Amino acid sequence: MKMDKYIELVNGNLDKFMEIKYPEDIFKSMKYTVTLPGKRLRPVMCLESCRMFGGDINEAIPTACAIEMLHAQTLIHDDLPCMDNDDYRRGKLTNHKVFGEAIAVLAGDALLSYAPQIILKNSKNLGAEKLVRIIEEYVQYAGAYGVIAGQIVDIESEKKNPENPRKVLEFIHTHKTADLFKLSLRCGAIIAGATDAQLEIITEFAQKLGFAFQIADDILDETSTFEVMGKTLGKDKEAGKLTYTSIYGLEKSKTDLNNLLDDCTKLLADNNLQSDIFEKIIRKIRIL
Ligand code: IPE
Ligand code: IPE
Ligand code: MG
Ligand code: MG
Ligand code: MG
Repeated sequence: MKMDKYIELVNGNLDKFMEIKYPEDIFKSMKYTVTLPGKRLRPVMCLESCRMFGGDINEAIPTACAIEMLHAQTLIHDDLPCMDNDDYRRGKLTNHKVFGEAIAVLAGDALLSYAPQIILKNSKNLGAEKLVRIIEEYVQYAGAYGVIAGQIVDIESEKKNPENPRKVLEFIHTHKTADLFKLSLRCGAIIAGATDAQLEIITEFAQKLGFAFQIADDILDETSTFEVMGKTLGKDKEAGKLTYTSIYGLEKSKTDLNNLLDDCTKLLADNNLQSDIFEKIIRKIRIL
């Protein structure tokens, strides 16, 4: 399946899953950020991982959509005034700018549990064993061992000079960004019935790709525009964030990014994994 078709499939299902119920304000706020036009990278990767390991992508749709909901949760909270304090996301006002801070906090909280509920309600056909494994992955990567671990160290490292900045940065990028890549790819693979050895390969791939993705995001914060990215840029420096570019500079960041992407391509080839979609994603992340 082509990228556009995957995105269409994800968007159609997200619309279906994000029903507005009572109390409407919370559901409207949740739906607002989830359905704004993001790149849908994580759900597409979940579906493609499932396909690549011989699974039926229809079985992975609720999980793929749930991971996009979790991603939206991280964005809503990341943009709050007490975190990165951003006014724009996906080309539109951020959630708290539209609904107010209290509702935005609650919408994030709500999405964190709504997402696994969507999986549980809509994936009974996977059977108890796979469902438990998927929920285990979800709680691992969404919680205090995962994205939240990365986010707290990101916030705590602002305007500080940690003793070992490279090590701290590796922790931040691994958890705040690569962990959702791992969640996406591992869940797709689990649904397909991948072996432990296959899971190990796809986890390594996801770590490298997610890490590269955050390096690119750090570079683009300095070099891209609002029109392209749909969010206010140039703020990492102002906030004194510990980023890949703040440690290594733009040129080395680009070299390291592209080397990591080369590793990703090689990892697929070495393991006879063929995917036009992953090749396309790797091409899109590359910065020349
Ligand atoms: C933004 O992720 C957060 C980062 C990890 C840098 P994306 O760049 O995938 O955001 P959307 O989903 O396209 O809005
Ligand atoms: C993204 O880091 C991490 C999460 C949202 C979990 P950033 O703070 O750099 O993401 P953007 O640049 O706001 O999208
Ligand atoms: Mg942030
Ligand atoms: Mg941010
Ligand atoms: Mg950023």
